Amino acid sequence: QQRIFSGMQPTSDSLQLGNYLGALTHWVALQEEHDALYCVVDLHALTVNPDPAVLRERTRRTAAQYLAAGVDPSRSTLFVQSHVPEHAELAWVLSCHTGFGEAGRMTQFKDKSARHGSEGTTVGLFTYPVLMAADILLYDTNLVPVGEDQRQHLELSRDLAQRLNARFGKDTVVVPEVHIVKETAKIYDLQDPTAKMSKSAESPNGLIELLDDPKVVAKRIRSAVTDADREIRFDPQAKPGVSNLLTIFSALSGRSVASLEQDYEGKGYGDLKKDLAEVVVGFLTPFQARVHDYLADPASLDAVLADGAEKARTIAGVTLDRIYDRSGLLPRR
Ligand code: TYM
Repeated sequence: QQRIFSGMQPTSDSLQLGNYLGALTHWVALQEEHDALYCVVDLHALTVNPDPAVLRERTRRTAAQYLAAGVDPSRSTLFVQSHVPEHAELAWVLSCHTGFGEAGRMTQFKDKSARHGSEGTTVGLFTYPVLMAADILLYDTNLVPVGEDQRQHLELSRDLAQRLNARFGKDTVVVPEVHIVKETAKIYDLQDPTAKMSKSAESPNGLIELLDDPKVVAKRIRSAVTDADREIRFDPQAKPGVSNLLTIFSALSGRSVASLEQDYEGKGYGDLKKDLAEVVVGFLTPFQARVHDYLADPASLDAVLADGAEKARTIAGVTLDRIYDRSGLLPRR
């Protein structure tokens, strides 16, 4: 069975629709036929120096949202990154194989460091993609389901894997493949449909958070930016706003974009938005109820995470020993 690994940062109280459609729904589908590990990457969240109590809460909330979306702990290994110390340990080794310039070319780092300035930019933000490579390589991962914005980080993981294999022997680590589903690879901001939907957007009005009040969500959809003509047609270049709404509609309803185009022929943007708002609210309402059930029982949630961490450690330990050994570190025994 092919091994899958992926993760999300607990940097917000709620995941947003891009996380869900770009990644989480695919995680749920992939767990059926694969050996999957899904991680809440709390160490990555430290790069932005969160409030400690808030981080702890968000880590549980993120895990609860994985479960509510359908990640099944009897099929998949669900765990928290910091519970498996091998992630940080392998990250150190990999950082010694990463060029300074190579890390500096990561576009997410360039964007973030430009925003925070040189003193506000931590070394952790710089080495962030190296920790991500460690996450992936630790589990001999074959496939990494992510959204388009993670493609460059995945390339770095692949380069590092190939470098280790060239240096220490070709079976040192597995070279991972990226798994990006084209249709939902990039969900766009409702107010600025040329920018990706993101928790760090300037205005909250373009964002759909999974735990937002459904009434607020419906309103945001109804006020989504479209264009001046009236045709409901999928054309991301000419009609980014309408195309984004069609993408979301299709992904949440299971109806194809072509059939939606047909059904809305001759109808107005208002009709499309009204129906989409209903579809989104119809998804969010039971989803939120499930999240609240999981959060109402933190002891059970923590037990799931503890169990996942134990399973993850048995795999991670073997890989780390192999890489430590090939790197020339003296065995402990
Ligand atoms: P993060 O937490 O920013 O996002 C989690 C996942 O959601 C996807 N995503 C989107 N997909 C489509 N449209 C959008 N607007 C959108 N916004 C976010 C992301 O591509 C991602 O798949 N570095 C990673 C977390 C990570 C990781 C890993 C992922 C750490 N280690 C190992 C895979 C494997 C991140 O910050 O994702």
